[in-house]
Amino acid sequence: VTVPEKHPDVIVTGRLELAPLAEADLEAVHALWSSPGVRRHLFDDAVLPVATVAAMIGESVRLWHASKSGLWAIRRRGECELAGFTGFWTLPADPEPQLLYGIREELWGRGLAAEAAAAMVAYGFDVLGLDLLVASADAANVASVRVMQKLGMRFDRREEVGGLELVFYRIDRPRDARTTAWTIP
Ligand SMILES: CC(C)(COP(=O)(O)OP(=O)(O)OC[C@H]1O[C@@H](n2cnc3c(N)ncnc32)[C@H](O)[C@@H]1OP(=O)(O)O)[C@@H](O)C(=O)NCCC(=O)NCCS
Repeated sequence: VTVPEKHPDVIVTGRLELAPLAEADLEAVHALWSSPGVRRHLFDDAVLPVATVAAMIGESVRLWHASKSGLWAIRRRGECELAGFTGFWTLPADPEPQLLYGIREELWGRGLAAEAAAAMVAYGFDVLGLDLLVASADAANVASVRVMQKLGMRFDRREEVGGLELVFYRIDRPRDARTTAWTIP
């Protein structure tokens, strides 16, 4: 991972580029979040209205300007097309901002979610200075649970939220402060 400055606008990993979500991403994000494989676990199968997605992107842009947090677009290096999204978001179930990720279905199974989310974990600790990162998934969402495990997160608890069985994972800021994924000049 290459970080050009303390608060990078673009995070580059081996295969991916992550950039803060922008208003221009609305159509692509709406398509991603509406696709059956992604919406099933992310939004309890609901197709969000475009206005809701626009409001979430607006909030993400606000978070970016306020605290360099929020959601990020994932693209394969050199491509314009959205491959997925990741980032930090506060969900109703929990006051802690959670690490989220989703990848276009035709790109699943190549390690892209883990690659992007690992960059977010490093960003969260090294740039945002967070002490703790939390993520959750439907208990049945094996791929997401596997991603959390690949990030080095550990199982925290299983909890029913709004009729859904969720599993929560967490990772504490490493004691030596800097995760190995970053090189900050
Ligand atoms: C979860 C999601 C992001 C994973 O994306 P991805 O790019 O395929 O993830 P990765 O390739 O990095 O890792 C997926 C892991 O799950 C494993 N996996 C996937 N489906 C599986 C299944 N049915 N049973 C067992 N393992 C499974 C893969 O083998 C891989 O593990 P491995 O690297 O040890 O082989 C993707 O499925 C998605 O977008 N889902 C919808 C949105 C979502 O659920 N987001 C998470 C909640 S925030």
